[in-house]
Amino acid sequence: MADDQPVRSGADATLPPVRLAVLTGGGDCPGLNAVIRAVVRRGVRHYDDEVLGVRDGWAGLVEDRLEPLTIDDLRGTLPRGGTVLGTSRTNPFKVEQGFERVMETIERRQIDVVIAIGGEGTLSCTREFHRHGLPVVGVPKTIDNDIGVTERTFGFDTAVSIATDAIDRLHTTAESHNRIMVVEVMGRHVGHIATHAGIAGGATRTLIPEEPFDIDEVCSSLARRHEQGRWASIVVVAEGAKPVPGTMEVPAETRDEFGHIRLGGIANLVAEQIERRTGIETRVTVLGHVQRGGTPTPFDRVLSTRYGVAAADAAHDGAYGCMVALQADRIVTVSLDEAVRDLKTVSPELWHVARQFFA
Ligand code: F6P
Repeated sequence: MADDQPVRSGADATLPPVRLAVLTGGGDCPGLNAVIRAVVRRGVRHYDDEVLGVRDGWAGLVEDRLEPLTIDDLRGTLPRGGTVLGTSRTNPFKVEQGFERVMETIERRQIDVVIAIGGEGTLSCTREFHRHGLPVVGVPKTIDNDIGVTERTFGFDTAVSIATDAIDRLHTTAESHNRIMVVEVMGRHVGHIATHAGIAGGATRTLIPEEPFDIDEVCSSLARRHEQGRWASIVVVAEGAKPVPGTMEVPAETRDEFGHIRLGGIANLVAEQIERRTGIETRVTVLGHVQRGGTPTPFDRVLSTRYGVAAADAAHDGAYGCMVALQADRIVTVSLDEAVRDLKTVSPELWHVARQFFA
């Protein structure tokens, strides 16, 4: 096969049309509409499929809230952030009779395959339904980029670009006031956004969940740097960053239906310590959902479109229980079991690069 050929062509238009249901679950993410658009385009035009859009993630299958999706319905949505289908963090296995109600909806609506676009929580749920015999295909979504076995999830590139732009802007105000700026970015279990935006934005220090930080050491290195001249500093903190146990007090955790910790606030704690221990004015910027909103970058639009086309093909190839993934710049299918087994953490190689620029 020539190098520029797709790994799965799915090009056999004689395969019978199917009735697809598409859902988006978990946090929204730039590129979701591009995936939906591509699934509908490939499914309807190439296979003559019918596509149903599920409202608000798995909740829509529990409550039988679906509507037909046509190519026309998706016009103009490629550059739009969010999801036209709506999303939720509903876990049907945690809802009373949730599993049975989903299966009833599938039967009532005569759905052949469910395409679930989501992060680790949604994909774990999708895998569970596959184990119970439901034909499913997964598409990896999350700005956190923490899904194993795929080199990229869509949305990540957009989030890094937004965070980098923010850091660039913070540099000039920090320099004018000789301040330390602490920037909190998303990243619940992993520090991909923080590490990439930290390198791209020239951070003085980056704190990520994979590498517990020692606040004493962070503060003394910042103090040393400022003693050497009138230099501003940027500290990028992933929301899931943790201190070395016993070195700094952090508030107790709360969790959502998938057992995910609700985060936010570590930057304030870190900034408080920095200002108190160094005596240098310190300010905090929490980027929050700005990183998830708005239009996807061209890279994410292309990746989302490739995933959507591949997911429609996978639904026809019988690749049930699989997730589409990016590997060595090719779209492949991998088993959902494998996909949700381990979160992808920041590689030692990239962390080594980031550290070269720390104070
Ligand atoms: O999509 C993943 C994520 O961006 C995490 O980094 C973050 O902790 C979480 O979503 C926050 O989402 P929400 O506020 O929608 O629950």
